[in-house]
Amino acid sequence: MIILKSSREIEKIRVSGGIVAEVLEEVKKKVTPGVRSKDIDRMAEELIRKKGGIPAFKGYRGYPSTACISVNDEIVHGIPSERIFKEGDIVSIDIGVIKDGYYGDAAITVPVGEISGEARRLLEVTEESLYKGIEKAVPGNRVSDISCAVQNFVESAGYSVVREYVGHGIGRSLHEDPPVPNFGETGKGPRIKCGMVLAIEPMVNAGKSDLHVLDNGWTAVTRDKSLSAHFEHTVAITEYGHLILTVL
Ligand code: MF3
Ligand code: CO
Repeated sequence: MIILKSSREIEKIRVSGGIVAEVLEEVKKKVTPGVRSKDIDRMAEELIRKKGGIPAFKGYRGYPSTACISVNDEIVHGIPSERIFKEGDIVSIDIGVIKDGYYGDAAITVPVGEISGEARRLLEVTEESLYKGIEKAVPGNRVSDISCAVQNFVESAGYSVVREYVGHGIGRSLHEDPPVPNFGETGKGPRIKCGMVLAIEPMVNAGKSDLHVLDNGWTAVTRDKSLSAHFEHTVAITEYGHLILTVL
């Protein structure tokens, strides 16, 4: 069941989303050679709490940390650890915040120092694919119009979209209906209505789309060891069009 939100509720999600955006802005400056992923996680948790939010992922289905930090061939749900970032890595940071009963969720992928041209292009294509999807998040379209726009853009750049993880509705729960896949045909699935709030989150592999999940039960990695990137925004659909809620 898709839960439509009032403008008052969208405002609350915007507050949570604003915290997510601020924290991502802060921590991304610290993603430099020699830093450990758990340093970033701790910093994120401290910042979220200082801003009056609660880390949304910690404890969610047993997830142990504030952030998901996924490096290179890790697609999503990388668990912060002693792993040290090195020049040339790409690092996805995914953060969720709950405040006043409402969730915000966003992710970015950032370079560590100088990265290869190929890695840079993957980041650019993945981020742009998110905006291609967001452009379709307008009343009257269907959810799969978002999916199709993301997939087409990614595949025409020669990359692949992950199938096993999808975007989602968001509000009083982190994951609500409808699912928002990053693949599919246009004109299918629920119609997009004012009051919907969607977390749109393309996960893009430089190689094939196949993945496997590590023994920790969380971290998804590409089967072919190719690089993977992830960008996400929480987006509200209003009578004026879409509104990105995970911005400063
Ligand atoms: N953005 C991801 C998602 O929506 C992060 C979830 S991490 C989890 O699924 F730990 F909360 F599962
Ligand atoms: Co999400």
